[in-house]
Amino acid sequence: GTEVHPPKHVWAHTGLLNSFDHAGLRRGYQVYKQVCAACHSMKYIAYRNLVGVTHTEAEAKAEAEEIQVRDGPDEAGNYFMRPGKLSDYFPGPYPNEEAARAANNGAFPPDLSYIVSARHGGEDYIFALLTGYVDAPAGVVLRDGQYFNPYFPGGAISMAQALYNEVCEYEDGTPASASQLAKDVAQFLKWTSEPEHDQRKRMLIKAFGMFSILTILCYYIKRHKWSSIK
Ligand code: HEM
Repeated sequence: GTEVHPPKHVWAHTGLLNSFDHAGLRRGYQVYKQVCAACHSMKYIAYRNLVGVTHTEAEAKAEAEEIQVRDGPDEAGNYFMRPGKLSDYFPGPYPNEEAARAANNGAFPPDLSYIVSARHGGEDYIFALLTGYVDAPAGVVLRDGQYFNPYFPGGAISMAQALYNEVCEYEDGTPASASQLAKDVAQFLKWTSEPEHDQRKRMLIKAFGMFSILTILCYYIKRHKWSSIK
């Protein structure tokens, strides 16, 4: 393809033993909710998934209660709207794919739940894509509703630049530059793609410790059992 490879960055979670930066994940959720969710669904993530990761249980409940969910049928057979609960999944911006395409010049904004696993370059690609919009070089012809981004395969993308300095205001006081917003939301999308990431690395540390002890133990047991034969 003609696309440019995204530069590799060192993230808080890069490396065998490093966990996510949870303050960053919380900011990333805010960026997703306030910017990306206008066009992208994230249908495999539920509010309960935020508990203990980005939010306390009470905070996650409050987030869920901001949405309205269609439920039913009740005893009378009626469907009704109710505030969201922890067990509800994030709402999508469109009722179906047809409506999504109609609103985006025919292009479909993919569900973002597992996008970091689905795209080459992972979180580095997401960061590069979000911060990589430039004017189309001479000779590149864009259709209506297309923008030029060298990181997108082919270069012509039907998503406009979404992040600019200060499009969100962070409650923790972190300056909300476009690149900070991109970094935070890219890390958040890495987490949604691999929610078990931190547990996996913690398990690795434990497993390594156990196997070290058992290996040493085996060595001494072997020496002890064989000592009379020598
Ligand atoms: C595509 C992320 C905001 C509309 C994509 C892709 C990603 C992405 C990763 C897939 C690119 C690929 O296929 O490799 C995000 C993030 C956002 C955001 C993280 C928030 C920071 C928006 C907004 C809109 C939008 C606000 C609508 C106004 C689209 C569309 C596509 C797309 C239409 C399909 C593009 C194409 O296939 O040409 N987005 N997006 N996105 N996004 Fe977004």
